[in-house]
Amino acid sequence: MKKLLEQIMEVARSCGAIIRDADRSQIGIKDKEGRANFVTAYDCKVQAYAEKALRQILPDAGFLGEEEGSTVDATKEYIFIVDPIDGTTNFIKDYHMSCISIGLLHNGERYLGVVYNPYLEEMFHAVKGEGAFLNGKPIHVSDEPLSNGIVLFGSSPYNAELSKASFELVYEYFQKALDIRRSGSAALDLCAVAAGRAELFFELILSPWDYAAGALIVEEAGGIVTTVSGDPLPTLVKTSIIAKNH
Ligand code: IPD
Ligand code: CA
Ligand code: CA
Repeated sequence: MKKLLEQIMEVARSCGAIIRDADRSQIGIKDKEGRANFVTAYDCKVQAYAEKALRQILPDAGFLGEEEGSTVDATKEYIFIVDPIDGTTNFIKDYHMSCISIGLLHNGERYLGVVYNPYLEEMFHAVKGEGAFLNGKPIHVSDEPLSNGIVLFGSSPYNAELSKASFELVYEYFQKALDIRRSGSAALDLCAVAAGRAELFFELILSPWDYAAGALIVEEAGGIVTTVSGDPLPTLVKTSIIAKNH
């Protein structure tokens, strides 16, 4: 198990280096479906690297990545779920708030998650039942009440029909908490809740690769992750999400 985790973290580190050391003159931005949704040459490059490296580690595992329209056989014992760059708009803007996210399901359940922010050299990881860690040190959600908390949210930027509801909900939370933040990376938002840097994160729609690793990291840090209506979080489909300390 330790070897598997170390190998996956090594893949994340290499992917992070590709993101951090990107040739800014060769970003290659293209439009994707939905509002303000882009893909760069680096999203595809990092995914191709990750897929090849992860297939070498677990050759029989399924692979679901955000780019190249990949689909996965849900009956596989192990399934990797990869967001090669979570925070693509930040990456395009050179905003230094992006990461690589690698989740691994085992028999349909969240089993392992790795999220690496190459700009801060922060490696978050969790394995089911073994706690959550940042650069090898245990992390835990905060004990603060929401009234003394920071709320993170994602604006579901690619789904314009959810904007009004998102901003209404964030206004409600703004009134109950200290303040609001919007980072541009759902995976890093989840890790911020896990590390006790924020008390709550929500977004009205996310894809499996956005939350696969981060949701397990929050759970293993002692937090709670559900859909916005309080149902169990799925694994392989789009969903709303709320992650909180208690
Ligand atoms: C996006 C980011 C963003 C969130 C979007 C995601 P991408 O992922 O996580 O914070 O609001 O819903 O799709 O497109 O940068 O990989
Ligand atoms: Ca994403
Ligand atoms: Ca992405």
